[in-house]
Amino acid sequence: MHTQLFPGIDWVGFVDWNIRDFHSYNTERGATYNAYLIRDEKIALIDTVKKAAADTLLKNVSELVDLDKVDYLICNHAEQDHAGAMAQVVAQMPNVQVICSPRCKDILSGYTDTSSWNFRIVANGETISLGENTLTFIHTPMVHWPDSMFTYVGEKKLLFSMDGFGQHIASSERFDDEIPLDLLLEEARIYYANIVYPYGAMVQKVLAAAADLPIEMIAPSHGLIWRKNIPAIIEAYSRWAAKTAEKKVVIFYDTMWESTEILAKAIYEGVLSVPGVSCTMTHVRKSTLTEISTAAMDAKCCALGSATLNGLPTPTIGAVMTYLQGLRFPIQNALAFGSFGWGKNAVDEISAWFTKMEWTPIAEPIKCKWRPTQEIIAQCEEAGRQLALKALED
Ligand code: FEO
Repeated sequence: MHTQLFPGIDWVGFVDWNIRDFHSYNTERGATYNAYLIRDEKIALIDTVKKAAADTLLKNVSELVDLDKVDYLICNHAEQDHAGAMAQVVAQMPNVQVICSPRCKDILSGYTDTSSWNFRIVANGETISLGENTLTFIHTPMVHWPDSMFTYVGEKKLLFSMDGFGQHIASSERFDDEIPLDLLLEEARIYYANIVYPYGAMVQKVLAAAADLPIEMIAPSHGLIWRKNIPAIIEAYSRWAAKTAEKKVVIFYDTMWESTEILAKAIYEGVLSVPGVSCTMTHVRKSTLTEISTAAMDAKCCALGSATLNGLPTPTIGAVMTYLQGLRFPIQNALAFGSFGWGKNAVDEISAWFTKMEWTPIAEPIKCKWRPTQEIIAQCEEAGRQLALKALED
């Protein structure tokens, strides 16, 4: 199976219809691992796929060209969703030279025995002519790993952007104008929140470098290829990379016997009493880390609450804290709340975590013993109102 981007340039990747857990990212719409074949005087394969899909990739390529005719295998990124199949692919392509960044070679060699591979390490800006098409390699460290690079084909104004501008969507369509744009941008946003967000500064550098390039097609390694809505995805990446916090409060909580849920709802009511602030309220055991992080990506304020289980926050709240700690969203103000019965309580743990995150508490932590009293509910409503007022501040 293949799809033509230009005459002589085809998508030859793998559509992963059934994946739902991509290293903890909930891929509700599945995923693709995009690989591309350029047939010119020289023949180049741009990236591979995950190990389990190696046979599909090799079949797709061999439908277009004999495997021993492939001259170059460009590895833009060594993460195993793209490079897991490389050992099988290199073994089937006896004349192939592997093209990659210096860090990429190190990582590939950490995953597999590359001692027999014919490597060519390329510097930032280095080019290789295939005949009519010239490949220019652009190092993009930390978008997504230290080894990452883009490959640009100037003659076609075509950018192979690796993880950048990707989305996790399994589809029979290959191009952005073949599915609804709002769905595509929402999946690109989920992808950005969960994969790219911590590297916003590097994304800004890449966008600045790409601004000098004429680009009429962006072919990422996941999801749909951008050929119509390039301004929309570039604008979205510019906005997300700026790490701007919106007038938004997110409430995340876990509850055992509804006490913490009552507190969460009272905080929500307090937020809603202030016009102009958006708010989401999420029972974390009825959601996913992927949804939670996507909600938190552009929030200015967060209320985090937990019932107390064995003297600690619930395991799910613990997972939320770990995940948000790594993603480093621009939340500035926070409120800890929750219920307990005796001894230690979850709220103190959440407050200590706020200190680590450098989130400023907007009020004293709200600790509810057994069932919330009317006094505590009123305290929650007022704290919600204070969170909303903080969200409105410039
Ligand atoms: Fe899709 Fe960073 O790999």
